[in-house]
Amino acid sequence: MADPCVHGSRGDCAISVRRGGLSVLGEGVRKAVPGARVIMLAVDEGVRTRWAPAAHASLEAAGLRVHVVPLQADENEKSIAAVERVWAAMLQAGMQRGDALVALGGGIAGDLAGFAAATFLRGIPLVMAPTTLLAMVDASIGGKTAVNLPLPKGGLGKNLAGAFHAPSWVLCDVDTLATLSDRDFRCGLAECVKHALIADPAMLRWMRGTCASILAREPVALEELVRRSVAIKAAVVSRDEFECGERAHLNLGHTFGHALESVLHDRLRHGEAVAIGLVAAVAASRAAGWWPDADPAEVAAALAQVGLPTKVPTSVDRATLNVAMGFDKKGSGGRRRLVLLRGPGQPAVLDDATDAIVDAGWSAVGA
Ligand SMILES: NC(=O)c1ccc[n+]([C@@H]2O[C@H](COP(=O)([O-])OP(=O)(O)OC[C@H]3O[C@@H](n4cnc5c(N)ncnc54)[C@H](O)[C@@H]3O)[C@@H](O)[C@H]2O)c1
Repeated sequence: MADPCVHGSRGDCAISVRRGGLSVLGEGVRKAVPGARVIMLAVDEGVRTRWAPAAHASLEAAGLRVHVVPLQADENEKSIAAVERVWAAMLQAGMQRGDALVALGGGIAGDLAGFAAATFLRGIPLVMAPTTLLAMVDASIGGKTAVNLPLPKGGLGKNLAGAFHAPSWVLCDVDTLATLSDRDFRCGLAECVKHALIADPAMLRWMRGTCASILAREPVALEELVRRSVAIKAAVVSRDEFECGERAHLNLGHTFGHALESVLHDRLRHGEAVAIGLVAAVAASRAAGWWPDADPAEVAAALAQVGLPTKVPTSVDRATLNVAMGFDKKGSGGRRRLVLLRGPGQPAVLDDATDAIVDAGWSAVGA
């Protein structure tokens, strides 16, 4: 099967999904960035000992001069200070505009290193080698790079400084998923279910039927899961590179999910909040009359089968959630936008969600 591809304004970006891919990283970088002589390998600390040596060796075997900069996968470290460290390492290595940065790791490492590549010398080529499921099927595709900024009243504002900077190549070596924690793996699965819901109902049936192999992380199943999921995101991004319209559909479940994540940040990870948000979005789609025979329980069963939560884990005041959603009267600015479904694989944006529609979503997940 051909590799999925993002067709962007600055050219095509192939997304290679394969086992043992790190062994061909060097060869692939040579093809994708023919002018590169020096490589900055930005390495997520979580994969430094297990996966970075293979990446490093492959790049060197291809005749590239390799420098390494370590990155912590921590939202507090997804900062301008960390980007400065990457810039300094690239200056120290004498990198020129044709040289490339290779990001090896999860979504935090990719976003942060990607932003450093987007801004160094006004932009140098970037290659993504994601090693979490979420980074493979979501964060590495579509050219969004960013860091967090401290908010004036305290706390962190997520992804507030960033740039669109499309990678030249994305290499998903599914073998690397073998060492990922169960919780991180499940969080990535939530995004796969979301992709299936917005674009490929048959994929959801396939995921249910293949669930045991996916959870056992059998490479053949992982390869198909990642390839199908990547193909969906790549197609959406190719049609709407700079998020002017259709790309919003990728936010299915995220408006409910973000509210849960911000209120219950000590209990729920992003993927877990999205899983609950997906159930809420399907229930809201039914309440809106868009998908009259939608069955939130069926979506919940698919998510539960892969170990994801489908109910709010503790009692939370619904008004608090609506404020976090920006749907309170004062904070909404008059817009109550939700991405919902008109049927399986038919996402659309509802601009004026009523209280009844939002309430139906929350009720379905026990909030
Ligand atoms: N740019 C985008 O379009 C986009 C989209 C979605 C999410 N994101 C961002 O992605 C980030 C979340 O990414 P994530 O879910 O990959 O989490 P993460 O980057 O925090 O990684 C999760 C953990 O897994 C470790 N790890 C990575 N690969 C591993 C492996 N193969 N084996 C063992 N451990 C490994 C990391 O060190 C970390 O501890 C968030 O900052 C989010 O904002 C960006």
